[in-house]
Amino acid sequence: MSGGRTAIWDAHTWAIYKRLLGYSKRYWAVGLVALVGMILDGGGLAAFTKLLKPMIDNLFVQKDPYLIFWMPIWIIGIFFLRSCGTFVSNYGMSYIGRHVVQTMQRDVFASYLRLPAAYFGSEPSGQQISRITYTSEQVASASSDAAKIGVTDGLTVIFMFYVMLSTSAYLTLSLLVMVPAIALIATVVSRRYRQISRRIQGTMGSVTGTVEETVGANREVRIYGGQAHEAGRFDEVITHTRRLNLKIAATNAASSSTIQLVAAFALAVLVFLGTRPQVLNQMSPGVFFAVLTAMGTMLPSLKRLTNVQANIQRGMSAAEDLFEIIDLPPETDRGTRELGRTSGDLRFEDVRLTYPRNEFEALRGVDLHCAPGTVTALVGRSGSGKSSLVSLLPRFNEPSGGRIVLDGENYEDYTLASLRRQIAWVGQSVVLFDDTVANNIAYGELAGASEADIVAAAEAANAMEFIARLPKGIHSHIGESGNMLSGGQRQRIAIARAILKNAPILVLDEATSALDTESERLIQQALQQLMRHRTTLVIAHRLSTIEGADQIAVMEQGRIVERGSHAELLVLGGHYAALHRMQFHDASLGSD
Ligand SMILES: Nc1ncnc2c1ncn2[C@@H]1O[C@H](COP(=O)(O)OP(=O)(O)O)[C@@H](O)[C@H]1O
Ligand SMILES: [Mg+2]
Repeated sequence: MSGGRTAIWDAHTWAIYKRLLGYSKRYWAVGLVALVGMILDGGGLAAFTKLLKPMIDNLFVQKDPYLIFWMPIWIIGIFFLRSCGTFVSNYGMSYIGRHVVQTMQRDVFASYLRLPAAYFGSEPSGQQISRITYTSEQVASASSDAAKIGVTDGLTVIFMFYVMLSTSAYLTLSLLVMVPAIALIATVVSRRYRQISRRIQGTMGSVTGTVEETVGANREVRIYGGQAHEAGRFDEVITHTRRLNLKIAATNAASSSTIQLVAAFALAVLVFLGTRPQVLNQMSPGVFFAVLTAMGTMLPSLKRLTNVQANIQRGMSAAEDLFEIIDLPPETDRGTRELGRTSGDLRFEDVRLTYPRNEFEALRGVDLHCAPGTVTALVGRSGSGKSSLVSLLPRFNEPSGGRIVLDGENYEDYTLASLRRQIAWVGQSVVLFDDTVANNIAYGELAGASEADIVAAAEAANAMEFIARLPKGIHSHIGESGNMLSGGQRQRIAIARAILKNAPILVLDEATSALDTESERLIQQALQQLMRHRTTLVIAHRLSTIEGADQIAVMEQGRIVERGSHAELLVLGGHYAALHRMQFHDASLGSD
């Protein structure tokens, strides 16, 4: 979709429209009832206008007793039917609209759950949130408005035209002034709207994103005095949003006022036609006023119809944005082999990794064999590629070269779900859910674990001592992203989660970095216990904790530069020995 030069209803828009219709197809019965309502709504108004002529000519001029009795009853009847129609059509359209929103929200959310990890770094999270909160609402309101206006107002115009024509074909000629002018206005309006509505969606994402970021970083903002900066940044975003919205308002206002002007011309022509000397004598006031009223009633409907394209555009560009996300390919999972329980024989063969938006290789040919049940420690400076290497295991990233072999089979031959079942993971930054401690430990596929198992896992992770002090023990809520807990407490919950999972491959990526030396020592025993009979990859910044590892691999700039046991590497006197000397020196100064 590129700007306003293209035709308004190109093939692409049709495709989106049809797909959107597919979403509401299930509610065709409700749609039918709503349609009847719209017909009653528009028809009632027409019937009333049609009554104007007899009302004026027969009631007041001829004083017909039959009509004098029936007219009030007809009026009530017509408007009773009409209000039934209004109710049914409004509620019916909302019913369909809300169901469509729900389905779209569910589809977009489902797609967030299966998109590859790399996607989440590629777009600001504000865009992802506003797609669910704002964009899907746009689809519903815009498309149900469009349908309601299209049918009700379309019918009103047609009915009114019929009333005019049947009352006086001659006076109806005055409409000739109005129709081409309004068609022109409608075209201009929808062109303009199409250009703007997509940009508005984008700004809603920026608004959400900026708020989210500032709220999340509320402490940093305060400590570093970023209030003015944040306020300025937010102001920029909302100013942009306001500008775009006002552009739309200007378009609407201009089209409404122009239509009114055009209508005034038509009215003038109507009066001119009605007062020509050759017709003036036969012209009854009833006929004149009925045509006049029909034209007046047609006007608001025509106004809405000229803007209905705008509604449709808004809904279409919103739907397009959602469909794009729904259609994104999910994580690659071409594996067919179900992995029961791996023996944990893990081999990296010349593994390379280039991140999508980076030019350099984060991993430059890593060869490493982790024998079943052994502990491999990765050490090296920050940025040397340790986390990147282990991120390949749950297949958060795909190697751009080389391969990983598990139990003698290519890693990619296994199904993603069965692979991930083999891995327990404790990372540096722990994300907890807004739920109880127990549900955070027994999360996902672990849900349903017995309370005894959960407590045992928490005890092994040395977490029970602080959990027991919470008001409701393991059933205490820990607040959004575990706000109530310290970093070390959160890490211990994550360790308990990993213990409970009891998976054959264990990854500890600076898992104890947030712990003090004493707690670390306590957990170390639990971790030693946990590592037994598992293939473990451990990244630790405190070398004292990995001295017992079966092999230590030292990484530098995406390569393994040294490999061996603690004793071997010390004798070698290379990178590891240097790192060790440094930490030993620090420790003897008492800073660790
Ligand atoms: N998601 C990512 N996208 C792009 N580059 C990344 C990403 N994660 C890490 N990198 C880059 O890859 C290199 C290795 O990072 P990382 O594996 O996190 O190092 P370590 O864990 O050893 O500190 C760094 O240069 C880092 O900037
Ligand atoms: Mg790291």
